[in-house]
Amino acid sequence: MTAAKLHSDNVSISYPLKNGEEVIAVKDFNMTVKEKEFVCIVGPSGCGKSTMLGAVAGFQDISGGNLHLNGKPIKGAGRDRGVVFQQASLFPWRTALNNVIYGLELAGFPKQDRQSKGRELLKLVGLEAFENHYPNQLSGGMQQRVNVARALAIEPSLMLLDEPFGALDAQTREFMQLELLRIWEETKQTIIFVTHDIAESVYLADKVIVMTARPGMICEEVKIELPRPRPLELKRSPEFMEYEKYIWGLIVKEKEKEKQTV
Ligand SMILES: Nc1ncnc2c1ncn2[C@@H]1O[C@H](COP(=O)(O)OP(=O)(O)OP(=O)(O)O)[C@@H](O)[C@H]1O
Ligand SMILES: [Mg+2]
Repeated sequence: MTAAKLHSDNVSISYPLKNGEEVIAVKDFNMTVKEKEFVCIVGPSGCGKSTMLGAVAGFQDISGGNLHLNGKPIKGAGRDRGVVFQQASLFPWRTALNNVIYGLELAGFPKQDRQSKGRELLKLVGLEAFENHYPNQLSGGMQQRVNVARALAIEPSLMLLDEPFGALDAQTREFMQLELLRIWEETKQTIIFVTHDIAESVYLADKVIVMTARPGMICEEVKIELPRPRPLELKRSPEFMEYEKYIWGLIVKEKEKEKQTV
């Protein structure tokens, strides 16, 4: 059996409000992410997906429960986690290569080493010809690939992606999903990926965690038993559509519950 990488045990997260009350964003969240596993989190908007991912990244304190990474409680951000958000957050004044190696600079890697590592990563994401381009000279999809390369540069034990392809057009998005799976196979990362897109979650994940409406709890964990490697055509197969329909049904039920409580 592979050792658990991440273990979330009854995690609750709340935001204090100015009037002294608090919003409970996540409640009793139990999840285990194994080494090299690809886990997607889906759920209605506002259910606490980003909040939960923020806690794993160490940007967000938890208000109850336990959250362990590699056996140690998470206390703040760290180089063992690479984070990618919806909008590529590259430094506009740095070239693609210099964006990728930013974390290595901070960590004090010698210049030669970080440049060769940066080039290797740009190659991995298919951008070796663009190392001297600035972000405004790259398309949205390319910028997001630089972002992924930057997160990988620090060799994190866990990659956290929050709607990383949300701002991309449908075609680029599909291509990026395929690319991410290829990178994942090559680097053997452990990934937690948050998305609104059910098809995206089924296509990528070993298991999809469906969250309830706020306060976000786990509604169901759906194991995706589709073979890998997964070509894009798999999305058109009956087995794929069956998973999609099933998860969609769970989310619709959650949305209906939400309507009844508003
Ligand atoms: N800084 C904050 N202060 C108060 N409440 C907050 C804060 N950030 C988030 N919330 C609340 O916590 C809940 C969860 O927010 P979160 O951003 O985690 O949801 P989400 O599932 O990522 O939504 P989306 O799919 O729209 O990105 C929401 O109801 C939101 O209003
Ligand atoms: Mg979010």
